[in-house]
Amino acid sequence: MALDLDVGLERVVAAATRLSDVQGEHGRLTIAGFPAEEVAPRATFEEMVYLLWNDHLPNSEQLAEFQARLAGYRSIPEHTVTLLRSAAERQTNPMDALRMGLSSLDVVADDPWEQAASIVSQTATIVAAFLRLRAGEDPVSPDPELSHAVDFLRMVGGEVPDPARVRALETYLNTVSDHGLNASTFAARVIVATESDLVSAITGAVGALKGPLHGGAPGPALDMVFEIAELERAEPYLRSKLERGERLMGFGHRVYKVRDPRADILAQATLRLYAGGAGDQHLYEMATGVEQVALRLLEEYKPGRNLQTNVEYYTALLLHCLGFSSDDFTPIFAVGRVAGWLAHCQEQLETGRLIRPSCQYIGEHDRAWVPRSDRGW
Ligand code: ACO
Repeated sequence: MALDLDVGLERVVAAATRLSDVQGEHGRLTIAGFPAEEVAPRATFEEMVYLLWNDHLPNSEQLAEFQARLAGYRSIPEHTVTLLRSAAERQTNPMDALRMGLSSLDVVADDPWEQAASIVSQTATIVAAFLRLRAGEDPVSPDPELSHAVDFLRMVGGEVPDPARVRALETYLNTVSDHGLNASTFAARVIVATESDLVSAITGAVGALKGPLHGGAPGPALDMVFEIAELERAEPYLRSKLERGERLMGFGHRVYKVRDPRADILAQATLRLYAGGAGDQHLYEMATGVEQVALRLLEEYKPGRNLQTNVEYYTALLLHCLGFSSDDFTPIFAVGRVAGWLAHCQEQLETGRLIRPSCQYIGEHDRAWVPRSDRGW
């Protein structure tokens, strides 16, 4: 019997959204009506979250009120810090620590928007606290007078960062804040559609984001560049990976069949950081050289598949330039994407519809029970 399955669901349209439009054939990304390259390098992170949640940019008064509301939620419970401390002592993977930290937050059932504001704020604090603890240092308490991005970098590094670093981080967080019905967003929508709660939905989304086919790619992408070390080694190294049937991290995308527009936004943000004297420009040049070899070999090994550079490759370079290590990249992705997850949860709740696809049974029917003593197989 021929099965008509769509196991990757790429032909299924499961939601209507005003949050983002991913035009894969044209390499265009619209976020809440704005071309991503227009809004991401300009908006503060709070403006971006407000935009996603309210479908318009805030005026100064609205922004100040929203920023204060988010900042008021930035502290995390003591029991969450204890949990993160114990995870750090065990050298837990930062994505696992983020999952644990988020799942330890209390569920506030009566006002989903207040819960959403607290989750956006506390996701950043959990990540920052864990990175400190893992380095053997105590977490830095939040400063509600500071903006989200400034305080995140301060809670990680212990000092108020310079504006260029803040701008680079905000550009990154905004760029990844929403992206259609990607795997983690879908996971969040499935969970909230059962009328579960936002803490559960975001915890589940973090689980989906962790995988190397989704948000887990930038660490391995940068590790690959480090392993190559010299540009002359790129071709034999990448060729042997492809010969073994391995995937090159940071390349290919389910929707984009041309270059991921987010890669360019992040490449420009990274170059601006270098222009200001930050980071290792040699690494950037190496990485762009490796990218060219990878694209040529992908076309050779997978002709016609249009495997192009995706957001993760330049995520790795930008976050490395900001001083983060490969293990930290995916949790920081979550610090940005949580804004979109929560906006999607709200849209999903408005539909009031349980998500429950079908599957086609391919097993047997009418088996007869065999007593344990008679199972001679
Ligand atoms: N390297 C080598 N080959 C690849 C790659 C890659 N990065 N990506 C896809 N291919 C190959 C597949 O093996 C497949 O080959 P085949 O038909 O000979 O078996 C062909 O190209 C088509 O691939 P699909 O699996 O159909 O592509 P899909 O849409 O399922 O995959 C994905 C998209 C998962 C992102 C894939 O390109 C990949 O694994 N990339 C590497 C991981 C990565 O960078 N992930 C981050 C994505 S961005 C994000 O989620 C934020």
